Amino acid sequence: MEVVPLGSAAEIAAVAADVVEAVVRRKPAAVLGLATGSTPLPAYQELIRRHQAGIGPGYHDVTCFNLDEYVGLPPAPDGGVHAQSYRATIARELTDGLGIGPDQVNGPDPGPGALPTAGERYEALIEKAGGVDVQFLGIGSDGHLAFNEPGSSLASRTRIKTLTAQTRADNARFFGSPGEVPTHVLTQGLGTILEARHLLLIATGEGKAAAVAAAVEGPLSASCPGSVLQLHPHATVLLDPAAASRLDRLAYYREVYAAKPAWQGL
Ligand code: GLP
Repeated sequence: MEVVPLGSAAEIAAVAADVVEAVVRRKPAAVLGLATGSTPLPAYQELIRRHQAGIGPGYHDVTCFNLDEYVGLPPAPDGGVHAQSYRATIARELTDGLGIGPDQVNGPDPGPGALPTAGERYEALIEKAGGVDVQFLGIGSDGHLAFNEPGSSLASRTRIKTLTAQTRADNARFFGSPGEVPTHVLTQGLGTILEARHLLLIATGEGKAAAVAAAVEGPLSASCPGSVLQLHPHATVLLDPAAASRLDRLAYYREVYAAKPAWQGL
């Protein structure tokens, strides 16, 4: 795992955008793994800014896979998908701005009749696309990755999960009232996420410091799903000063990044 302590969310956004752009330039038909939440937004905005300024790559041939999706959200008043569904969120926050069409973006299917087979169908789609080249990840304040709550098997696959009270409270800000946050979700499993070729975890703010320390320096444990990154051969963790503040080896991570060979890249 490469832990990269950076100076600000803006610096993280620039580095994350560099990583994604490098993948798409090298492989125009790249497969991008997308995360929701507030944390990746500055990186998404930076990608859109560069694309619209004409200095980013073209995204016409990419395929995207969302990490997770709510189950049981009512339709929007116009009959479309709910504004807080992750399908709508990813379109609004990233893919529309990059000119990536809805047919290029996949998400787990939360339709009520489809739930029993939604996991295996999503896994098959990811496999058919050749797997994910670079996977954005955030981390929950309880250490969850995607919607793999503490206790999730480190080998888990895409399936339905029940949110913890903590996660529902954390996500209530996106809804009119806490009671509107769905109780159930579909999420890529930790075993699914581990198959992406490059994991790019971003964490910012003091509220993530304990979860980051547990994931990066704690024991490998289902009690901290984020710790599964320790098993991945190419995981990059981009942190602002507040999110990095509880790491014991922080000085070492800084030394490593400062002395990183220029040819190596992230
Ligand atoms: C949600 C998402 C995760 C995300 C996490 C943290 O529960 N399913 O993918 O990493 O929240 O979100 P935020 O970045 O808003 O703190």
